[in-house]
Amino acid sequence: MTTSSSRYSAVAILLHWAIAALILFMIWLGWNMEDNEVRFQLHKSIGISILFLSVARVLWRGMNPPPPMPDDMKPWEKTLSHGVHVGFYVLMIGLPLLGWLLVSTSKFQVSTVLFGTVSWPHLPFTEGLRGGALHEVVEFLHSKGAWVLIVLLGLHVAGAVKHEIGAEQGVFKRMIPLFGKPDAPHPARGYVTAFGGALVAFAIIAALPLMTSSAPAAPPPEGAPAASPAAATTETNWAIDREASEIRFTGTYEGNSFTGTFERWSADVYFDPDDLEKANVQVSVDPGSASAGKKLYNDTLKSGEWFDISTYPSVQVSVINFAASPDGGYTAEASMLVKNKAVDVPLSFNLTIDGDTATYEGEAVLSRKAMNIGQQSDPGGDWVADEVTVTIKGTATRKP
Ligand code: HEM
Ligand code: HEM
Repeated sequence: MTTSSSRYSAVAILLHWAIAALILFMIWLGWNMEDNEVRFQLHKSIGISILFLSVARVLWRGMNPPPPMPDDMKPWEKTLSHGVHVGFYVLMIGLPLLGWLLVSTSKFQVSTVLFGTVSWPHLPFTEGLRGGALHEVVEFLHSKGAWVLIVLLGLHVAGAVKHEIGAEQGVFKRMIPLFGKPDAPHPARGYVTAFGGALVAFAIIAALPLMTSSAPAAPPPEGAPAASPAAATTETNWAIDREASEIRFTGTYEGNSFTGTFERWSADVYFDPDDLEKANVQVSVDPGSASAGKKLYNDTLKSGEWFDISTYPSVQVSVINFAASPDGGYTAEASMLVKNKAVDVPLSFNLTIDGDTATYEGEAVLSRKAMNIGQQSDPGGDWVADEVTVTIKGTATRKP
């Protein structure tokens, strides 16, 4: 008995093939990520997209039931086919959720930035579970889940081929937009529910990092003494020209050099070359303003084991003990308070004073380990080298 079989709605067909193609690509990608950061981010980006497409697909299905299975299918075939479909839906939603849990419980707290644009939060309540047994279990399930999906796909394709070739009504054409006719006696409905629902859920989660990240610590007003626990200077005789000045950090990441700047900082300066003993510079830096050229790096730098900006919204630096060095430059000691850890490093700099304008350029070498930065993910500096060079340069104007 051959009838012109009805087919799935156009939206269901589109979602079926889009998700199928993405999943196949994801399995290949999952097996071929090695330590490639770009691939990891792409895997997470597409995986989260599959999650929301699948949510939309389930909602859509609820409002636009699929055409009934061909009546020439035997009951056990219907049951098996139905079971495979249920299994697919469980995996289409479960695998991305497991992946999300996997990165949330990883001891490597790498941020997720979807398609280089949207900061995606880790799952809540996972802080205490990082690097523990749960992570191992989730890793196992995520990896084996992909194999279950492959087995289901084998059954699925075999079923589709069998019912196509077996001179029955055929099922393949039900999933191809060109054949058959839509089954729905009513026009497709539920666009807003399915896609709006998935989009709203996505938007709420994507908005969380924006709402929970503390507002950027406002730098103290120009000229006001920096709130430093170290000897704060009250007397300042130079005003830093912020437009012409920068604090830059440079390091090595996977063998390649990276660099970035802090966008928000302020400094109070007292400097007299003839009275170095009194020279004193207090700097307040907002570590949340670290900008290293890529959203992924900036987000990671803000996170818990790096600058942990929600707990420590500022880094204080007190530069004291100035001395003239034989090469005509100066040396000083930078005492820093980073994440409540006191670190002292030598700073060397050159300075030229021309009338009321001073031009300076200096450098200090810091150790991430000493500052407790990124010590869970990369204590050995295998990924981001331990040594980070901070350079300062700019101009200042003498205060009247
Ligand atoms: C339908 C969606 C997904 C599929 C089909 C998929 C598939 C895979 C596969 C096949 C692997 C390789 C596993 C192995 O090495 O044995 C993998 C690894 C991985 N996936 Fe997914 N994944 C999906 C979604 C996600 C999502 C949404 C995330 C995170 C947000 C994610 C994070 C990861 C991570 C971190 C690994 C590496 C695990 C490790 O180092 O062992 N995945 N994925
Ligand atoms: C990872 C890849 C795939 C996934 C996750 C997947 C998933 C699904 C699901 C969940 C359904 C049931 C739709 C519903 O009734 O709600 C379905 C139906 C269907 N799929 Fe796939 N599919 C995949 C790949 C394929 C491939 C490669 C083919 C080609 C042979 C195919 C052919 C079909 C056909 C013909 C139907 C309609 C079955 C029927 O009429 O009941 N699928 N697929």
